[in-house]
Amino acid sequence: MASQKRLICKSSELRDAGNGVRFATHDKNGEEASAFVIRHHGVVFGYLNRCAHIQVELDWQHGQFFDADSELLMCATHGALYLPDTGECIGGPCRGAFLTKLLITEKDGKVYLMD
Ligand code: FES
Repeated sequence: MASQKRLICKSSELRDAGNGVRFATHDKNGEEASAFVIRHHGVVFGYLNRCAHIQVELDWQHGQFFDADSELLMCATHGALYLPDTGECIGGPCRGAFLTKLLITEKDGKVYLMD
């Protein structure tokens, strides 16, 4: 079956280490889920907006996923720190766990979620 893609935002909406763009999707169980895309070192990555510690959204302020140094994603609830490119937690209460990664592509100035 051919994969489907869904437009999430324009490339220009994602600055490197800037605010992410949130969107609604479904998890692997078909439940509604919040998700986001961010840009890190030029590349766009996307994850479900669910901390690996407790299933709460990561961003306290909508769209603000990066920590103060702009190199890691941070959960606003208990401060778990995640690598932006893999989603691995490298600090905080869920160290070693991963965010749920989404398949994202960027083409012709637009960012897409791939099915
Ligand atoms: S809920 Fe994210 S670190 Fe605890």
